[in-house]
Amino acid sequence: MSVTTLATMTAPSPAAATIPAFGAPALPGFADPRKLRGEAARKARQNQVFGNLTPRAYEDLVFRLRTITGSVVLVSDPAGVKRVLVDNVANYPKSEMEQRFFRALFGDGLVGTEGDLWRRHRRIMAPAFDPRSVASYGPAITRACDAFYGRWDAVPEGGVVDLPSDMSGLTLRIIAGTMFSVDTDDVIGLVADSMKDGFDISQFNILDILPITGPIRMRRRERRMAEQFRPLDAAIRRMIEAREKDPQGPAADLLGRLVTAHLDSGDAAMTEREIRDQVITIFIAGHETTAQALNWTWYLLSQHPEAEARLHAELAEVLGGRTPTQDDLSKLAYTRRVIEESMRVYPTAPGISARVAKADDEICGLKVRKGEHIAIAPWILHHHAKLWDQPARFDPDRFLPERSAGRHRFAYLPFGGGPRVCIGQVLAMNEAVLILASLAQRYTLRLAPDQEVALQANVTLRPKYGLRMTLHRR
Ligand code: HEM
Repeated sequence: MSVTTLATMTAPSPAAATIPAFGAPALPGFADPRKLRGEAARKARQNQVFGNLTPRAYEDLVFRLRTITGSVVLVSDPAGVKRVLVDNVANYPKSEMEQRFFRALFGDGLVGTEGDLWRRHRRIMAPAFDPRSVASYGPAITRACDAFYGRWDAVPEGGVVDLPSDMSGLTLRIIAGTMFSVDTDDVIGLVADSMKDGFDISQFNILDILPITGPIRMRRRERRMAEQFRPLDAAIRRMIEAREKDPQGPAADLLGRLVTAHLDSGDAAMTEREIRDQVITIFIAGHETTAQALNWTWYLLSQHPEAEARLHAELAEVLGGRTPTQDDLSKLAYTRRVIEESMRVYPTAPGISARVAKADDEICGLKVRKGEHIAIAPWILHHHAKLWDQPARFDPDRFLPERSAGRHRFAYLPFGGGPRVCIGQVLAMNEAVLILASLAQRYTLRLAPDQEVALQANVTLRPKYGLRMTLHRR
């Protein structure tokens, strides 16, 4: 379920969809507004991700939904998800609207292209994300964590930190250091500035899909996006030019691969404009997502002291006070489970891109017609009553190998799946584990007393009113 599909939903169903809560602590997104009154009901309604959906979404595994422009098949059966994303993937390209939306954001970056262009670029970029390359980024991640301590050490005991801003700052520095081998404040500052108001989709609505208003609004959006990233363009051009003069160094990072592909075969492999689009894509897609995953993890830990205590015990045993390195990853099993469970409860990408059927097909017994839209939503999959036991409960141990054994691989989809799976998946997981282990060893965070927590699904799942937390040394 993408943002573009969401815009086509018909009016809210009178019985809005709610996830069975099973008496879990009242986490935002899981309370049933029908059972509440006044302010509590308002908050619950505001926190419903995909609140226009019928309650069937959390009970049925594959069914057809009516929308203003036609029908959408909502697929939550893991076998059906696999059919769309893997087994019959050639039949299900990203929808036209989805591609246009992401092209407005990222140009010819990997997220919004299809076909040969996407395949060629993905092939050039993939080696920079394989496990061996990702392992080589370990020291840069450790260095960034070491450098970050100073920021929180300067905060007085019990003082308030602006968590989203701090997590974005840290993950941005890591992307800049690992993918492009830069740590200069000018580029990093410009990326942060271009993102400070989030993605320009909050006004995405029915007018965007109507034949006359749609193209006009899209052109306006494209102009605004170009404006938003313009200050960055010159800095990125300088980065590319510097590397073209020295293609071998300083490291065989992603920028090196992009520039070498361009120098070796000219525009046949990648034009300068395409390099710029990929650099922006990785800067944005590569830091905002990981930062949101960490924000929700800190929040969930603050609400679940038992899980937090177990995390602290593992960190004391494995690290005993030192900053973790790549070699510690295999021993930080509980830390990893905390991140995995946090991305189940609050998936950073609540809906993956809408796909469209090129030809008739059948998904888990449901006949799909050529041209129909297919929606797959991690938010729904991760909270589906038929796929998870007590889906509204935060329980990192559900990712223990013995408890994961019978689970279908496509019931859990924080990074998507198939050929279009997140290219940065391994990097993101390693990075999130190393950051959490480094910081949780030294600090505990609690929700600031006046902080309201609410969900905002806007490509990524963000804390709507920010997340100010009080900082406590351990
Ligand atoms: C917790 C962190 C992250 C999450 C939850 C996440 C999630 C996702 C998801 C769900 C998709 C698939 C979207 C679809 O099928 O429509 C995706 C694609 C992508 N992600 Fe990530 N991502 C994360 C981190 C990263 C990082 C660190 C990078 C790069 C350094 C990255 C770069 C990309 C790119 C380039 C794509 C498009 C891939 C393609 O279509 O070939 N992501 N991500």
